[in-house]
Amino acid sequence: MRVVLAYSGGLDTTTCIVWLKEKYQAEVITVTVDVGQEEDFEDVERRALKAGASQHYTIDAKEDFARGYIFPAIKMNALYEGSYPLSTALARPLIAEKVLRVAKKVGADAIAHGSTSKGNDQVRFDLTIRALDPDIKIITPARSWGMTRKDEIEYLRARGIEVPNVNKKYSVDDNLWGRSIEGGELDDPSHPPPEEAFKWTVSPEKAPDNPLTLEIEFSQGIPVAINGEKMDPVKLINTLNIIGGSHGVGRIDHIENRLVGFKSREVYEAPAATILIKAHEDLEKAVLTPRELRIKRMVEPIWSDLVYNGLWFEPARRAIEALGDEMNRWVTGSVGVRIYKGSVTVISRKSPYMIYSQNIASYDVGWYPSEEKAIGFIEIWGMHSLSALRVRRNAL
Ligand code: ARG
Repeated sequence: MRVVLAYSGGLDTTTCIVWLKEKYQAEVITVTVDVGQEEDFEDVERRALKAGASQHYTIDAKEDFARGYIFPAIKMNALYEGSYPLSTALARPLIAEKVLRVAKKVGADAIAHGSTSKGNDQVRFDLTIRALDPDIKIITPARSWGMTRKDEIEYLRARGIEVPNVNKKYSVDDNLWGRSIEGGELDDPSHPPPEEAFKWTVSPEKAPDNPLTLEIEFSQGIPVAINGEKMDPVKLINTLNIIGGSHGVGRIDHIENRLVGFKSREVYEAPAATILIKAHEDLEKAVLTPRELRIKRMVEPIWSDLVYNGLWFEPARRAIEALGDEMNRWVTGSVGVRIYKGSVTVISRKSPYMIYSQNIASYDVGWYPSEEKAIGFIEIWGMHSLSALRVRRNAL
């Protein structure tokens, strides 16, 4: 049997290689998908081969991730439960698709991933694979082997396999769009996250004393330049992660409702996501009608829920995006944001499609409706409510 395994280089997936070979006498081919995680991919390959993989693939999917997953998320101002920019959740369907592609290419009998039965990721992987291939066998060693992390370390040691990251305190998943940190002391939500949990962001107290202003340019809802400098998507997001992180921007600590039946305390670092969504949301307010905005804000959380809950391939996601894309045609222009000791504040916005008009809005100049028009408007505007009050005033 030939199995293609989604391999991260960590403890669980390294154990998967050895376990798959022992349990199924399988040939194991590993695939690592580069979605912008901080990783030495050559070392990952070396570890995979040393643990017994027969072949290893590293696939650079950063650009696909930015254009096909992060950009739609920006257009939908995607924050699960108002807080989490969905970094891990967005990458899963892409990773599944890339790994499945290798599985088809090498004629694999099965596809394997290292998700446990406690997380959301198992749902995201399984359902994406099923959406793309209704038949391929899915093997999830970590759901069936019944080993703790300690047992896995023992298991590898007993077989003379190099154990990756034994000293790691937290379970971390990172990519271009953010870094998720779980486990260790973080499991106790009554305690603040220790400073050492963070890697991309300085603590706001240690951030520079001077605020920094950035001009972020959008074209049809997509960020294209910072301070006038055009950048490709990957560079733009990386740049904002570095700048934002150095000012303590993008730390998130919240209680999250997992898809799998329980609440968990989740800590994230997502400077670029925090800045870009804030800026994008603000620009929308300047260019969309109040009805457009109201409708869009109603469906945005539904989009985020679908992505969080492993339903990337649900047709409703595309339908919501079609609505969002239609409105994002006008989200072109630039937004000034000031970042300062962990905060992001929008301080200016410009757009050729601005519905806002200074001439109309200003108290000093321009348009004033006549007194007669204003009184007539108010009278008719209030009619429904005032009529109801008249009927009800004496009723009870
Ligand atoms: N709670 C987040 C999600 O479900 C992040 C999971 C991250 N995984 C991890 N091993 N740290 O998308």
